[in-house]
Amino acid sequence: MCGIVGYIGSEKAVPMLMAGLKKLEYRGYDSAGIAVLDGKNAVKSQRSIGKLSALLELTEKDKTDGTLGIGHTRWATHGKPSVENAHPHTDCSGKIVVIHNGIVENYIELKARLSEGRHKFFSQTDTEVIPHLIEEHFSATHNMAEACRLTALELKGAQAILVVSEYEPDKIIAIRIGNAGGLIVGRDGKESYIASDLAAMADHARHVAYLESREMAVVGRDSVHYLTLDGATLVKKTTAVTEQMVSAGKGLFEHFMLKEISEQPECVLNALRGRMGFELADVLLEGIPFSKHEASEMRRIVLVGMGTSMHAAMVGRHYMERLAGVPTEIENASEFRYRDFIADPPPLVISISQSGETVDTLAGMEEAKRRGLRQITLCNTPGSQSSRLADYTLSLRCGPEIGVASTKTLASSIACLYLLALWIGKHNGHLDEKALEKQVQILAKAPDLVGRALSMTSSIKALAEKYHKANHFLYLGRGIDYPMAMEGAIKLKETAYVHAEGYAAGEMKHGPIALIDDSMPVLAIAPRNALYQKMVSNIQEVKARDGKVIAVATEGDTLLPTIADDIIFVPACDYLLEPLAILPALQLFAYYMAVHLKRDVDQPRNLAKSVTVE
Ligand code: G6P
Repeated sequence: MCGIVGYIGSEKAVPMLMAGLKKLEYRGYDSAGIAVLDGKNAVKSQRSIGKLSALLELTEKDKTDGTLGIGHTRWATHGKPSVENAHPHTDCSGKIVVIHNGIVENYIELKARLSEGRHKFFSQTDTEVIPHLIEEHFSATHNMAEACRLTALELKGAQAILVVSEYEPDKIIAIRIGNAGGLIVGRDGKESYIASDLAAMADHARHVAYLESREMAVVGRDSVHYLTLDGATLVKKTTAVTEQMVSAGKGLFEHFMLKEISEQPECVLNALRGRMGFELADVLLEGIPFSKHEASEMRRIVLVGMGTSMHAAMVGRHYMERLAGVPTEIENASEFRYRDFIADPPPLVISISQSGETVDTLAGMEEAKRRGLRQITLCNTPGSQSSRLADYTLSLRCGPEIGVASTKTLASSIACLYLLALWIGKHNGHLDEKALEKQVQILAKAPDLVGRALSMTSSIKALAEKYHKANHFLYLGRGIDYPMAMEGAIKLKETAYVHAEGYAAGEMKHGPIALIDDSMPVLAIAPRNALYQKMVSNIQEVKARDGKVIAVATEGDTLLPTIADDIIFVPACDYLLEPLAILPALQLFAYYMAVHLKRDVDQPRNLAKSVTVE
């Protein structure tokens, strides 16, 4: 959720912090703030409500020259977006300054205890207890790192925290507890960087180290001292920063969302490149730590994810069952972690997370790890926490996805799940050589298919113009297209703020049909497949109740244009590839609806790209 940056070096801190925050703005954008130690080592904080541009104006009007500082972009959990609730927060003296991502779950009792003493609070945030606790421990220990460590031991919940203080003005202290988003320390010569996401420092840092849960770093200009919350010194492994980690620009596109939708053919190609022998009809997942024997022993698969990644999982189930012949369950990660999950027979857990940071998905993975289950993660972010938890990462290879609503990473997740199912099916003997060859030939058509699916952009733009005043939509699909009905609906909600529900078409008669009238359009996904006739019947049922139907139909279909009010044609393809043929149409429809309604397409209200709190 919130984005965190820190800089200590020889350059002016403010431009460094603002550039870092710009890269993290997707994580939260209801307010922002920085704190810099100026030339006299006095803390200067600047905070503003709204997007980063407001803070930028403030920092340009009232300049500060210090070379050490921290910055924060907020997604509100406790306390509405306001200047008082924006980070940084300070202790009573204003000399200890904190920014924070996560939730202090025991803040009410801590605040009550601190308020009984001489501590005064000025915000409604949970964060504000942290600087006051540090103040208490510092007055007892006179050592900032130790005061921070003792404070961390009192906090419940997942946290990522940065602290600077006038008492020890040559360091930034970074603390990580649990999975409240990553915390990365970067180094280059006499400069150090800290951020919740690599993108914020990839232009500067040469080497990075990832803080794990219950670890902290005392970050200076020349060196970094790592320790555990138990006080033991740590030697951390560092990783060189590669070019792939540097963030992308918008190019000629008006929005990142449109750019990322358009990039999907290339993303799908990248996902398959080198992993499929197109000529040999084979699947090659380099470095996968599962033997043929282990693959043949797999009795069960559990697919875990949230939001759009869960919709990928829903598609993936079809692949795992049909191509690998393994019974497969889908789990919404936020529910999975709190169930009495029965791990017998032990499943292979496959998590999907573009960010690799979604707290619920990570918690599910941790639970799986505790139970000794083998895990594969599909992830788009190199070095993410999910990659560190899993036995194997199948990288989505999409490059950074900046639009808050996921688009291209879903296309790539679908392609990767197809590949993985083929790999398992090959190794457990479910697919013989011929069947594998046929499937590889089908999957090889995916990049071109997505490209062709994008070619109807202008007709979808017109359709969005026609329907942009509708307040409610129903999306229906069957079989492998049902997850696409869910995805179409979520995209419309997220980006256009229009209420939409995705349903399995067979479920329509069990409730949603009562809502149908001429003011609620129904988007029916009805390509030419074995379930086509069933979808046609559902469409007829909607029409019989004066409903308006937008049908997603296979090119060349002559029946649906005579029944539906409007048609979106998608290219003909094999059943298992249908989600990739349909997805661009649904994304574009949501995008143009959002544009017509003048929404903030890339940073929709209330959302965040990485959801690092429960
Ligand atoms: C947020 C984003 C969604 C995304 C979901 C899961 O809600 O707005 O677009 O699908 O998180 O994110 P993940 O990074 O785990 O795929």
